[in-house]
Amino acid sequence: MNTSALIVDTIARRRWRASLVSMTVAALLPSSSHAQLALPGCPLAPNEPETRDCSPPPSPHKPIRFQGDHSGFVRVRKSVYELTPYEIDRLRRAFGALRKLSVDDPTDPRGWLMQANVHCWHCAGMAPPEGAGVDVHGHYWFLPWHRAYLYFLEKIMGELIDEPDFALPYWDWDTPGHRLFPPPYTTPGDVASNPLFDPTRRPSGSCLFLQHVGPQAVERVMTLTSWDSFMGKAAPAQPAGPVDPLGPQGNAGLLEFTIHNVVHGTTPDRPAEPRPERCGAPNMGIFSVSAQDPIFFAHHANVDRLWETWWRAGGEQRLPPDDRWRQKTYRFYDQHRHLVEISVEQVIESAWSLGYAYSPPSAGGADTCPPDPQPPAAAGMALFAPSMAAIEVRPGAAHLLTSVPETVIARVRDVTPSAAFLGPAAAPIAPRREPRLRIDGVTLPPGHTATVRVLLSDPSANALMSSAPVDETYFSIIPHHSHHTSVQNIEIPLRPQAEQLLLPPTAASLASGYVAEPSLLVTLVPTTPETVPLAAAIGAYGAPVVDTTAITYRDIYITR
Ligand code: C2O
Repeated sequence: MNTSALIVDTIARRRWRASLVSMTVAALLPSSSHAQLALPGCPLAPNEPETRDCSPPPSPHKPIRFQGDHSGFVRVRKSVYELTPYEIDRLRRAFGALRKLSVDDPTDPRGWLMQANVHCWHCAGMAPPEGAGVDVHGHYWFLPWHRAYLYFLEKIMGELIDEPDFALPYWDWDTPGHRLFPPPYTTPGDVASNPLFDPTRRPSGSCLFLQHVGPQAVERVMTLTSWDSFMGKAAPAQPAGPVDPLGPQGNAGLLEFTIHNVVHGTTPDRPAEPRPERCGAPNMGIFSVSAQDPIFFAHHANVDRLWETWWRAGGEQRLPPDDRWRQKTYRFYDQHRHLVEISVEQVIESAWSLGYAYSPPSAGGADTCPPDPQPPAAAGMALFAPSMAAIEVRPGAAHLLTSVPETVIARVRDVTPSAAFLGPAAAPIAPRREPRLRIDGVTLPPGHTATVRVLLSDPSANALMSSAPVDETYFSIIPHHSHHTSVQNIEIPLRPQAEQLLLPPTAASLASGYVAEPSLLVTLVPTTPETVPLAAAIGAYGAPVVDTTAITYRDIYITR
């Protein structure tokens, strides 16, 4: 799709959203930034269980302990772009068999909807207590749980088509030229002839955005060095049941809350027609139903591959050292309908214990996708707001992120004495941890997604001039269910060049009377799913987009 087609499409979509929100627009405009928000939730998505009960069927037997994969060969996962015609056909047969089983015997735990509900069951973040498993998002079990989930599904698919070497493909959106939605999943555009199709998408070839999955975004994640910034941190104690929706959830790693989430939320094969009943989201855009789109598994195979690559590059110290992480167990039905218990420790060496390995992607090719939509020049300028206009956020109160990019002062708080305070000559007294930018209590109205660019600038820049960013990343939030509010704490590890900015202010900046203590200027730019800053979208299209204009946050600061 070319850029103008994309923009026309964007306008069309925005129009219906505009009508959807016209009654609440006034409450969202910058002038009323502390107004109470009264956005309606999005109604349930099709196939989203009413009661939230997507619980697994009971097992007649006690779970058996996973014994490793004993098939005797390694299943090779390839890029979806490198599948042979035979392999594409086999992939279709395998998803077709899952879908058929779901119809023939809805109680078979291996069927399509049952398998999708395995994911739903573990999306309990915002669910009421009934029928909710323990949430597998937003902490350091996110990667191992999804690895095990894909493993059992892959084995089931191989069993159903009687080809035990069947392997899931991965969608390497990070390979040049591969950010195009993989054609086998979109054409033909009906489930009967193409089980890889999902009708909540639009059957057209469209692309992920460079800003989200391009080399810069991928490098930002893959150059992390500590396991917690890559994988996420320990979750708060979760004896059973759902986590507290307002509790601390600042535990997701950068891989999860940037690229993983944004591909869910912007999977660009969106419905051609406005479907207000979904708030415009395809299955992929709502965690509880996301595994009802076959692309979920190609996306997650790539997330898993990046984890594998990152871990192999760094070894043991790139795994959480605590036993609580390794000993954690989860249950899945296997290809023989046995309930199996598997521990995190058992999935670390995937090729050895799970019997699969990734064939590296090719070098890729020409990128046939259009460049990311560019904001009009005036809005581009607004990205680099003059530091003079930077505001201080009062911690605690809900602060509305309006459609206008906003520059705030993030001050250093609660750090161990180190270079940040004492200057580069001072030796750190504790093992050094990179400073992190925290944005706490980011809250979205029910069912909505948001992607926010985060630009870090030099606080000692002349107060009167615009400052170019020294680092840039983003965060993306996906709802667990259509009708639940999302609350997240975001923690972004800062790169060395940003850390330099934390040094005590220069005499010149002190003289400006502006910078009093180590701090960073952080510009937050809510964007449309198409990466255009909302302010520009409003200018160009006349109305805000509902999914990113009602984001609030409670605090922003720098810590270790
Ligand atoms: Cu369990 Cu991509 O999410």
